[in-house]
Amino acid sequence: MSLKPRQAFMNTISSFSDYQQHYNRSIENPEAFWEDVANNFVWKKKWSKVLEWDFHKPEVKWFIGGKLNITENCIDRHLPKKANHTAIIWEPNDPKDEAKKITYQTLHDEVCKVANMLKANGIRKGDRVCIYMPMVPELAYAILGCARIGAVHSVVFAGFSAGSLVDRINDSGCKLVITADGTVRGDKKIELKAIVDEALKKCPSIERTIVLSRTSKLPFMKEGRDVWWHDEIKNVDAHCPAEAMDSEDLLFILYTSGSTGKPKGMVHTCGGYMVYTTYTFQTVFQYQEGQVYWCTADVGWITGHSYIIYAPLCAGATTVIFEGIPSYPDMGRFWQAIERHKVNIFYTAPTAIRSLEKAPLSFVERSDLSSLKILGSVGEPINEEAWHWYNKNIGKGKCPIVDTWWQTETAGFMISPIAHVTPLKPAHATLPLPGVQPAIMDENGKEVEGNNTEGRLTIKFPWPAIARTIYGDHQRFRDTYFSTFPGKYFTGDGCKRDENGYYRITGRVDDIIIVSGHNLGTAEIESAIDEHSAVCETAVVGFPHDIKGQGIYAFVICYNKPNEEDKLRNEIRETVSKIIGPISKPDKIQFVSGLPKTRSGKIMRRILRKVAEGDTSNLGDTTTLLDPSIVDEIKAGAL
Ligand code: WT7
Repeated sequence: MSLKPRQAFMNTISSFSDYQQHYNRSIENPEAFWEDVANNFVWKKKWSKVLEWDFHKPEVKWFIGGKLNITENCIDRHLPKKANHTAIIWEPNDPKDEAKKITYQTLHDEVCKVANMLKANGIRKGDRVCIYMPMVPELAYAILGCARIGAVHSVVFAGFSAGSLVDRINDSGCKLVITADGTVRGDKKIELKAIVDEALKKCPSIERTIVLSRTSKLPFMKEGRDVWWHDEIKNVDAHCPAEAMDSEDLLFILYTSGSTGKPKGMVHTCGGYMVYTTYTFQTVFQYQEGQVYWCTADVGWITGHSYIIYAPLCAGATTVIFEGIPSYPDMGRFWQAIERHKVNIFYTAPTAIRSLEKAPLSFVERSDLSSLKILGSVGEPINEEAWHWYNKNIGKGKCPIVDTWWQTETAGFMISPIAHVTPLKPAHATLPLPGVQPAIMDENGKEVEGNNTEGRLTIKFPWPAIARTIYGDHQRFRDTYFSTFPGKYFTGDGCKRDENGYYRITGRVDDIIIVSGHNLGTAEIESAIDEHSAVCETAVVGFPHDIKGQGIYAFVICYNKPNEEDKLRNEIRETVSKIIGPISKPDKIQFVSGLPKTRSGKIMRRILRKVAEGDTSNLGDTTTLLDPSIVDEIKAGAL
C-alpha cells in the first residue's frame, strides 16, 4: 500500500441502531470488523492475518505482517489537504503568555527534526528513550520523534521523584533521557534537570540527556552526557523518513502501579494501538472536521498518550495541550481557556470537576462556554452529584457527557457512551464499544449472565490495543491479568450491570487506590513509608475523599512510640514525596501498635478500610485474627 493521502475515516455510527448493528457485527466477526477499520489508515504493507490470540499464554497479535509508521498517520497523510490547519494549540501555564498554534506542517518539520536529533545522538530503532518533560509542544515532538524512527518511548510524569525515575529508567534500560531545565505549574517551579541529575547517579544505561530550555534557569550540564535541545536541533533537517514498523513492534512503554511495589511497564505495539485509539476517539467523541478538542490530562498518563497525542492527530483533529493547572491563576482557568480557544469537546476528570464546583459559580459564568458540544470524564467513577453539576453548569444541559471507562492496559476507551448516540445515565459508563466483550464474574470464577447483577469485570475477547506484556516480565503479566479468571482479561475493577445492561464501574477490588484519578499501588506507598527510620511496618488503604475521590490512609507501626506525632507525620509525608512523588503523600497517618493480621500473617485490609471509612459498626468476622484486641485499639484511635 502506498502513502496516498487518505481521508481520516468518517464516523459511521450516528444512531443507537447503528451502534447495535456495529456492535453485533464486531462480536460475530471481529476480524472482518477490525479489518474494515484498519483499512482507513496508511499502511506501508498490508497485514496477512488480522488476529492471533490465546488468553491462556497470554498472547495477542493484530494485523500480523502489516507494516506502518504511526507518525505518517498522525501527520504526513494530512499534509496534502491540511498542512496549514492547526494540529496543536498550546495553552501556557501563565495566561498572560501567548498561546501557540502549531500547524500540521510545522508538526511534521519539528517531529522530523527531533527524529534526526535522536539519530545524531545514537538512537536507533528499538532503543528505549525516557521522556521527562513539561506539558509543552516539544513533548509531543519528542514522543512522535521517537515513533518516527522506531525508538520506544517511556514517558515519565514530571511530578514523579528521582527515585521513581530511576526505577523506570532502569527497568527498561533507557539509553537517553529527554528533559527540560525546569517546569512551571501554577506558581510552583520544579527543577526537572536537577531531579534527572540525581536519578542518573543510579542509571548506568543512560548515555545522553537532551535538555530543553523552558525556565531559562541554567542547570548543571555534565560534559559528554548532557546537550541542549536548541543546540542539537540547529544541526538537523526537517525531513526524516518514517521507519517501517511491524504491527507488533513496540511503540511505547508506560508504567502503571501494581499491587506489589514495583511499577509495571505496560507494553503497547504499533498497529493495533493506532487503529483502536483512533477508532474510539472518532466514535465516542463523534469528532467533526475543524473542531477544537481539549483533554486536560497530563501526557505522562495513558489518557495523554492516547487522547491528547496519538488518536486526535491520527484523526486530523486540533488538540489542545495545556501546561498549567485548573486553579491558576484562579478557579476559572479551564473555562477561560475554553472561551479563548472555542473548545468544542472538553474531556477532564471527576477530581477536577469536584474541586472546581467548590468555587463560586461566578468563575464559570464569566466565560462564554457556548462553543462546547461534548463533555467527557475519565479516571474514576464520576459521582452523580459531580455529573449533574458538570452537565448543568458547563454543558448547560445540552452537551452529552461521555463517561469513558478504560485503563493504561486497555490503551483506549472500552465502556463508554457514544456522544449523541447512547442514551445517558449519570454515573454509568453505559455500554461496551464495538469489539469489547465484557463478562462479569462472581467470586467463584463463574460468569454471571443477564442483567441486574454485579461482580468483577473481565473482558473475554481481545481488542486491538490491549497491552501485549509487562516489559521484561511476561509471567507477571499473566499472573496479574490472566490468572484470576483463566482465559479472561481481569480488569481489577468491580462493576454492576443494571436492568438495561448498562455498566457502572464501582471501583478497584485489588490493592490499587485511585487518588485524583491517579492509579497508586498501596504496596509502593507502604514501602516508601517504611523507608523512614522510625517506621517498622505500614498498611495503606483508600478512604472516600470529597475532592480526590479516594484519599490515602496509612496505619503505621513505629519502633518506639512517637513523642511528637505531628512532626513524625510530616517527616513521613516528605519521605513518600521524595521517594514516589507528592501525589502519593498520605492524607491521614494513624500510629498503631499492631495491625490486624490473620494467623498466616496476611493483613486484613477489609477491617482497615472500614476504619478508614469511619464505619466501624460492623467489621465482620474478626475471629480468625491472630490478636483480635488490636482492632479495638485501632478503632479507638481512628482519625
Ligand atoms: C482505573 C485505570 C483510563 C485512563 C485514566 C486512568 C478507573 C478509569 C473510569 C471511569 C470508573 C474509572 C478504574 C480503572 N477508571 N476511568 N470512567 N469510571 N472508573 O488509567 O491509571 O490505568 O487507571 O481507573 O478503576 O481500572 P489508569
